[in-house]
Amino acid sequence: MLGGGKMKGGETMGGGGGSGGSSSISPLVSFVLGAAMATVCILFVMSASPGRRLADISAWSNADDAPPLPLPLQDAAADSNDSLAAAAAANVTVVAAPAPAPVQAPAPASPYGDLEEVLRRAATKDRTVIMTQINLAWTKPGSLLDLFFESFRLGEGGVSRLLDHLVIVTMDPAAYEGCQAVHRHCYFLRTTGVDYRSEKMFMSKDYLEMMWGRNKFQQTILELGYNFLFTDVDVMWFRDPFRHISMGADIAISSDVFIGDPYSLGNFPNGGFLFVRSNDKTLDFYRSWQQGRWRFFGKHEQDVFNLIKHEQQAKLGIAIQFLDTTYISGFCQLSKDLNKICTLHANCCVGLGAKMHDLRGVLDVWRNYTAAPPDERRSGKFQWKLPGICIH
Ligand SMILES: *[C@@H]1O[C@H](CO)[C@@H](O)[C@H](O)[C@H]1NC(C)=O
Ligand SMILES: *[C@@H]1O[C@H](CO)[C@@H](O)[C@H](O)[C@H]1NC(C)=O
Ligand SMILES: *[C@@H]1O[C@H](CO)[C@@H](O)[C@H](O)[C@H]1NC(C)=O
Repeated sequence: MLGGGKMKGGETMGGGGGSGGSSSISPLVSFVLGAAMATVCILFVMSASPGRRLADISAWSNADDAPPLPLPLQDAAADSNDSLAAAAAANVTVVAAPAPAPVQAPAPASPYGDLEEVLRRAATKDRTVIMTQINLAWTKPGSLLDLFFESFRLGEGGVSRLLDHLVIVTMDPAAYEGCQAVHRHCYFLRTTGVDYRSEKMFMSKDYLEMMWGRNKFQQTILELGYNFLFTDVDVMWFRDPFRHISMGADIAISSDVFIGDPYSLGNFPNGGFLFVRSNDKTLDFYRSWQQGRWRFFGKHEQDVFNLIKHEQQAKLGIAIQFLDTTYISGFCQLSKDLNKICTLHANCCVGLGAKMHDLRGVLDVWRNYTAAPPDERRSGKFQWKLPGICIH
């Protein structure tokens, strides 16, 4: 979800000044859990279905922002002379039919391949992993993945060490290879249940399948006993965000618009940055959520979340924390205090080019900020360059 959920285009919710939001946008609309937004973060798993093509799956991934847009993979291939992308793309055709076995594939018995091994290696002592998801277009030099990594490197307070706990989930062979070239913990998610050759219209059958599959994959992580912090790859990490996740929260989710009360279901969440603790409550919650797929047949998982959130919260006493945009920010509701910001998401922004443009600008300012002496930093003289294409 490179984007800000269902908020299409630049029509940001923040534009009107926030809190009321537009009435056409229901609360929790972009709960990643949400649908339309999912670009980078499509974590989904399908039961294997031979004959479907893997390589096409990543083509969907930018669809969250704007389903009718050209496929990012094709964009990347068309306008890139980048050797990695080109070579990797060439490899796709070679290996496309059978999914490549993950390089170290020690557990053939598991339907998830080496997932447990990858999680075990990447997890913190308290069994937490950070996850993101990419497709081929994001693995090439100068891509979003590069900006993502760079933010960690420029970040403060040891945030770069968190990269040790980052699992990059890839859904096509080329992205998997691209990932392995730059990162230690890569996972190849076999997603062969849906034919992704054609574009997926919002709420089409395949679209629903995909979004529910992503939800199911998150459930799998929890069932394996791991807490996860899912981050879109268009989130810049400047400081450790974990310190703003309450110990008491079962789920912590970023906000497109934060209304001031972290535990109000009236906040506007964005699942592009989502922490879920693995415990009985969250497992129950995800189970009910998945059951809701049949109970409210034909709805996508974000709608179902909205349909069950109150009853589930009452029943399970699950604590859902909405993260304050002062710290866990995004273009929708921008934190202008560089002394406080931890992460910055290019939400409320459509299009890879626009995101990259604005995030580059953000990194330029951040670079100067971090190079300055402490008193200058505290003085507040460092400000984002506004407006950009999306950032304002
Ligand atoms: C590849 O792109 C770079 C700039 O990104 C350009 O300088 C170079 O000429 C290009 N090479 C080819 C073969 O198009
Ligand atoms: C393409 O595949 C070959 C053989 O599997 C491998 O050696 C090469 O590194 C791959 N290229 C890229 C760019 O991944
Ligand atoms: C960063 O600092 C340099 C040197 O002072 C300046 O030229 C440049 O414009 C600054 N960049 C931004 C984005 O503020």
